[in-house]
Amino acid sequence: MKMELERPAERPDRFSVAPMATSDVAAVTRIERACFSAVWPTDAFYNELSTNKLAHYFVGRYRDRVVGYGGIWVILEDAHVTTLAVDPEHRGRKFGELLLLRLVDEAIARGAAWMTLEVRESNTVAQRLYRKYGFTTVTMRTGYYSDDNESALIMWAGSLKSELYGNRLRVLRERFSG
Ligand SMILES: CC(C)(COP(=O)(O)OP(=O)(O)OC[C@H]1O[C@@H](n2cnc3c(N)ncnc32)[C@H](O)[C@@H]1OP(=O)(O)O)[C@@H](O)C(=O)NCCC(=O)NCCS
Repeated sequence: MKMELERPAERPDRFSVAPMATSDVAAVTRIERACFSAVWPTDAFYNELSTNKLAHYFVGRYRDRVVGYGGIWVILEDAHVTTLAVDPEHRGRKFGELLLLRLVDEAIARGAAWMTLEVRESNTVAQRLYRKYGFTTVTMRTGYYSDDNESALIMWAGSLKSELYGNRLRVLRERFSG
């Protein structure tokens, strides 16, 4: 019997990630509304981009259209993933993963050693993506989300500076260059 080889990740050739600009906010807000039950107010992204020096936001474009976005705050050695989303029409094509990879790279470039995020208890899709990038659940915040009282898992990854994590990232990155 022929051994089944793991299929390399499809290379999303026409997908690119770039820093979010204020001109992207309308598209980002449209995706936000399609993805989350509790959405950020319209001016939140503008404020993040214009006044928050700890914040770093990116958009993913496919064929020149914004199809996803993500952001982090970097506070000394801690990076906090504030948001990550992919347009429902464009999911399952590694765009979310490439956005997360960009956030991790940015965190490391800015000196972070640890990365954290909160995710809904029911959001097993996102949890699986985060686990792939070394995040583990450290604690839970009961009733964290005010819209429906759902609990949040608090996940951490690190040390981002360790050889072990570097190796993990290299292996994951290599899957995109096959
Ligand atoms: C979470 C989200 C960003 C993933 O984006 P995506 O582009 O669809 O995901 P990708 O194609 O990059 O998949 C990457 C990994 O995510 C996980 N994943 C993606 N789709 C999945 C599914 N349907 N079932 C289980 N795991 C899934 C897997 O670990 C996958 O890696 P694998 O294919 O090697 O197993 C996207 O589902 C989304 O925007 N969800 C709504 C917003 C949200 O929940 N954001 C996170 C808030 S904490």
